[in-house]
Amino acid sequence: MARSPFSPAFWRSPVRGPWLTSVLGLVLLGGITLLFVTGLLSYAAYNPDLSPVNDKTPGKGLLGFYLFAWPTDPHWLYRLTQGVHVTLGITLIPVLLAKLWSVVPKLFALPPARSVAHALERISLLLLVGGGLFEFVTGVLNVQLDYLFPGSFYPLHFYGAWIFFAAFAAHAVLKTPAALRNLRQLREEERDELTSPAPDAPTVSRRGALGLVGGGSLLLFATTVGQDFDGLRWTALFAPHGRRDPGTGPGGFQINKTAAYAGIHPAETGEEAWRLVVTGRTGTVRLSRAELLQLPLHSAALPIACVEGWSTSDQWWRGVRLRDLAALVGYDADPPDVFVQSLQRHGSFRRAALRANQVADPRSLLALSVNGADLTPDHGHPARIIVPAAPGVLNTKWVARLTFGDL
Ligand code: HEM
Repeated sequence: MARSPFSPAFWRSPVRGPWLTSVLGLVLLGGITLLFVTGLLSYAAYNPDLSPVNDKTPGKGLLGFYLFAWPTDPHWLYRLTQGVHVTLGITLIPVLLAKLWSVVPKLFALPPARSVAHALERISLLLLVGGGLFEFVTGVLNVQLDYLFPGSFYPLHFYGAWIFFAAFAAHAVLKTPAALRNLRQLREEERDELTSPAPDAPTVSRRGALGLVGGGSLLLFATTVGQDFDGLRWTALFAPHGRRDPGTGPGGFQINKTAAYAGIHPAETGEEAWRLVVTGRTGTVRLSRAELLQLPLHSAALPIACVEGWSTSDQWWRGVRLRDLAALVGYDADPPDVFVQSLQRHGSFRRAALRANQVADPRSLLALSVNGADLTPDHGHPARIIVPAAPGVLNTKWVARLTFGDL
């Protein structure tokens, strides 16, 4: 019995082979590409080029070439893209691990390089395997809220994504034709360097193995996707925010950070103490909550869509349009961008910038109530921002100051 992994005979599973690897590879081809695209959209949704406060990866340079003004339609856009990103990422874990298992003998194949081209391919494989594991690990740790990784999640996951996807794209260009040919021509028992020269007796067929992987993915999907659907939230066993019961009544929907966690003192949000400071072209106005309630109020049905992938159904928000507040300080026609500051004392999203198209949207509100009742402290009382299609972190709670003007 071969003792060294560098010997092909060391790898004894009869399940390995080109057919299994091709099937897993093609599933990942679609899945990883969709993950990369939805991830890039997640970064774009921050409007990072609008203001440094929105940009957690300022050193991106040319990698920001694709950025665009994030739209406000459809209002569920970010709920969809980030829900897909996180749920698909978790669902693909068994496929990724099975694919790595199916090709692991190749990583030990000798000689390490038969030619320059072969050496380059092997280096890209290391970037592919390392980058893939890195992206999945940082992603899962991020959504599990116990982000233990050294260094900020954003630049690590963002740069990791580009390195991984570049290696993945090179690998896909090299391997997809063969994989498609394999599936068209191959029978399951075809052999190549992945097939064991001295296999053990089979305990499961290749299709059986694929079924196990599919079953694992289905289980992870079924215990994650519920975080985006009210009636299914209890099924989201692996989603930290999924199961937590948000309570009942008008404020009975998910939150990320509580008022206590954000360091909001009830004394500063009371009718006497709190004033919204709005600054713009014609100067500054200070408004109490009572004065805000005297302004024209509008409603909008909008979800909260968190960057961690969970989301609520549409909630019925009511408040003052951001564009009407801009008009109070000299922007009657085309409202400009706005810089939003919260009473929040810590946390990287106590300030945020919104682009003019977001300010101009009639559904973009400084919300004072939701589902027919005043905002609760945890939902941002006395007032919070709610904008269609924006990531939850840009819908600032406990708003203290709005500064309108080109940022
Ligand atoms: C289990 C797998 C994964 C999970 C759970 C995951 C999770 C996340 C989360 C939660 C975010 C948003 C973070 C935030 O804005 O606070 C994110 C952003 C992103 N993800 Fe993933 N991800 C996974 C895999 C991947 C993979 C495989 C790729 C690349 C192919 C990728 C590319 C990106 C990119 C480019 C961003 C934007 C980063 C930024 O906003 O700075 N992700 N991911």
